[in-house]
Amino acid sequence: MILVTGAAGFIGSNFVLDWLGACDEPVINLDKLTYAGNLENFASLAGDERHIFIQGDIGDSARVSKLLAEYQPRAVINFAAESHVDRSILGPADFIQTNVVGTFGLLEAVRAYWGALPEKERALFRFLHVSTDEVYGSLEPDAPAFTETHRYEPNSPYSASKAASDHLVRAYHHTYGLPVLTTNCSNNYGPYHFPEKLIPLCIHNALAGKPLPIYGDGQQIRDWLYVKDHCSAIRRVLEAGRLGEVYNIGGWNEKANLDVVNTLCHILDEEQPRVDGKSYAEQVTFVTDRPGHDRRYAIDATKLERELGWKPAETFETGIRKTVRWYLDNQDWVANVTSGTYREWTAKQYTL
Ligand code: NAD
Ligand code: TYD
Repeated sequence: MILVTGAAGFIGSNFVLDWLGACDEPVINLDKLTYAGNLENFASLAGDERHIFIQGDIGDSARVSKLLAEYQPRAVINFAAESHVDRSILGPADFIQTNVVGTFGLLEAVRAYWGALPEKERALFRFLHVSTDEVYGSLEPDAPAFTETHRYEPNSPYSASKAASDHLVRAYHHTYGLPVLTTNCSNNYGPYHFPEKLIPLCIHNALAGKPLPIYGDGQQIRDWLYVKDHCSAIRRVLEAGRLGEVYNIGGWNEKANLDVVNTLCHILDEEQPRVDGKSYAEQVTFVTDRPGHDRRYAIDATKLERELGWKPAETFETGIRKTVRWYLDNQDWVANVTSGTYREWTAKQYTL
């Protein structure tokens, strides 16, 4: 079996659902269930013994050690993190705690477990660390996309904490020989995305008749990847990645934020037109920019494509249409997550 941390979040839950859709190898899901963790994502797995959920913190080494000893996984895939840049600006402490101290605690428990495995299991064991393109910093408009050797230049408390976790993972390989793999992926979108991130926020606000908040001039560029393509890349790296290597994952889909939101509006205009016949694009509202806002990210995924033969299945156009459809078909899921702490967050973040 495999141990997946942070698997109740956006990407982790897609990963678990896809994994169990493709094979019968059980998954232990270790998640602290912060505001971002949602067990409702596993409604389709109710009663499925291949999915074992355990509520816990990756930084609790004693707890993680007990779990490893009990379940004897052949791999650990680490998705657990605080992941929202805006939250890291308002309150960086949780990011340092989970992304840096937590990853350290997890690595310590995994190192002890791995070191005591019989030789054959030891050789086959993998620790895969899921990271982000944001560790590389911001690109000039005409600069080439980030390769794996690009200098680390994190600019937000979120990206700095992820950069620190990447460095710890690297050090555990070089110093202790822990069989690690690291992936750095671009911005994901798709089902189960918590509606405080740009794409699900704008779908939700559009349908609720609320403003679509665009930071600054909306010309910041992100490289978007459909979440299921990220999951297939992680499966491929886990299967065939070279130990100690870093693999960038991206979809070659650079888009300015304003273009992304206008595309969403046009799809919604077709799929669920506004009652007054106007476009949802009328709800676009420019708001104060994010402090230290990175201007452009772009991922060069050539290494992953060349070495491991991975390619994304979706273009931005096909993936974004699927995503809008998913949100229209899953309004109950959205309604359940947009209560309570989510409302407190939006009240603090947006003064519209
Ligand atoms: P998310 O915020 O939706 O989910 C994070 C999950 O981790 C939640 O279920 C949360 O409960 C859990 N968690 C938080 N702290 C924990 C702790 N101390 N112990 C155990 N569980 C804890 O994030 P996501 O968007 O699914 O991102 C998953 C991973 O992928 C993160 O490491 C993130 O840095 C990375 N990543 C995300 C993107 C993106 O676009 N979302 C892109 C590249 C990389
Ligand atoms: P986000 O989804 O928070 O991801 P990240 O900051 O990790 O790339 O934001 C994506 C882009 O959208 C980013 O440039 C910030 C911008 N943005 C807005 O313009 N308005 C919003 O309300 C949010 C949440 C993001």
